[in-house]
Amino acid sequence: MAKTKVTVPQLKAWKGQTKKFTMITAYDVLMASVIDKTPVETILVGDSMGMVVYGYNSTVPVTMDQIIQHTKAVVTGAPNTFIVGDMPFGSYNVSVEDAIRNANRIMKEGGADCVKLEGGQNMAHVIEALVKGGIPVMAHIGLTPQTAGQLGGFKVQGKDAEAAKQLMEDARAVERAGAFSVVVECVPAPVAKLMTEELSIPTMGIGGGPYCDAQVLVTQDMLGMFDRFVPKFVKQYAQLNKQMVDAISTFYQEVQDNVFPGPEHTFGMKEEELKRLY
Ligand code: KIV
Repeated sequence: MAKTKVTVPQLKAWKGQTKKFTMITAYDVLMASVIDKTPVETILVGDSMGMVVYGYNSTVPVTMDQIIQHTKAVVTGAPNTFIVGDMPFGSYNVSVEDAIRNANRIMKEGGADCVKLEGGQNMAHVIEALVKGGIPVMAHIGLTPQTAGQLGGFKVQGKDAEAAKQLMEDARAVERAGAFSVVVECVPAPVAKLMTEELSIPTMGIGGGPYCDAQVLVTQDMLGMFDRFVPKFVKQYAQLNKQMVDAISTFYQEVQDNVFPGPEHTFGMKEEELKRLY
């Protein structure tokens, strides 16, 4: 039986429950349809597509049009899964009006069920305006890849008490602003635990340790497809990159050895028709 698409109130209700919910990324219809067959409750059409799909060195160049196009494909492939559309860099830091316009596009044109944006205290006013406008917002704090340069690179955040206190302030600010959940990326587990205990909205860890209310991973990392680097917080549940290289190389060799195509992959013709051909 197909799963039923979850709602924002349902996701919020899983706060502090034994049940932990999950989110993984998809950028195309095929991966979305695979995830739709699993119990995973939410799909993120992440700006990680910049690195995973487009081969950029960061997520910064990703555009609104790319997010919308990929969100449409994912929505088509996963009708029973809650879809989160990522707001790309530059789409919400110009003005509140611009942020609302762009979030509306991700929902209306892309078909997403909510948007996600990076930032804590500094983006609370934007989150508040979006939520007032009827747009559900997932916040994203800790290591925020769009501004990794400002943070000194792709590093664990909140390692000392001062930085951890700032992160707690960020978490409180996005909750106050109305975010319905918050992604907590690359944060020491004790800090994510404290946050999870204090907040009334679910925390979604990616490199945030085991105490978060939910866990999120990039699908292409967890399936071992993306092989440029493997972050410490990623567990590879398969090695699909190697399997794909092996399969394609076997195809190549079988063509050289006249093994493929075999009779089972070949179309025949009636004898009399063949005779008429010569
Ligand atoms: O874009 C993305 O995939 C993300 C995850 C790392 C949470 O933001």
